[in-house]
Amino acid sequence: MALFGRGVTPIPLLAVAILLSGWLAYLIYMPQPTNDPYRLKPDDAMVVAKGASLYKQHCASCHGTDLAGEANWKTRKPDGRLPAPPHDESGHSWHHDNAALFNVTKYGPQYVAGAKYKSNMPAFEKTLSDPEIIAVLSYIKSTWPEDVRAAHDEINKRARQK
Ligand code: HEC
Repeated sequence: MALFGRGVTPIPLLAVAILLSGWLAYLIYMPQPTNDPYRLKPDDAMVVAKGASLYKQHCASCHGTDLAGEANWKTRKPDGRLPAPPHDESGHSWHHDNAALFNVTKYGPQYVAGAKYKSNMPAFEKTLSDPEIIAVLSYIKSTWPEDVRAAHDEINKRARQK
């Protein structure tokens, strides 16, 4: 018993060890679904329905009602600006993690390309609330085929581990 010193019984130590290991298991297994403030909800029917109507109202005019974007979206227009890219699986929206999609929608492409970058993509900071932006992006994700959604989940998992 010398190991535990006088007055310290192994029982509380055991309790502490159990608590600590429970906490460790929590740290390892639990945070992944909850520690991403930009987490999209493509399986939440209410969020997706709200996102679909917001998309029609705020995004479809450029990105297309069918999410196909503008024609020749990879070629800059004569004014040097890019056409709106598709949000379906043929585009590269799904290559970006949740935070990038959220911030480009909220603050415009200038968020990643710098303040001087000229783009037709508006910032929605003053038009949409944060949950509305999540809803629109959740709707977009809900339209992707299963393998593209899985690839996007993987991109987010890697982004969180950085
Ligand atoms: C007035 C036209 C217009 C509207 C409306 C619009 N966008 Fe865009 N969007 C663009 C253009 C143009 C780009 C290309 C950005 C650039 O210039 O690099 C773009 C790019 C994006 C990107 C980056 C995509 C990528 O693959 O890099 C996201 C995300 C995006 N838009 C989301 C939205 C969402 C969500 C809405 C509606 C809430 C919306 N946009 C409404 C024109 C528009």
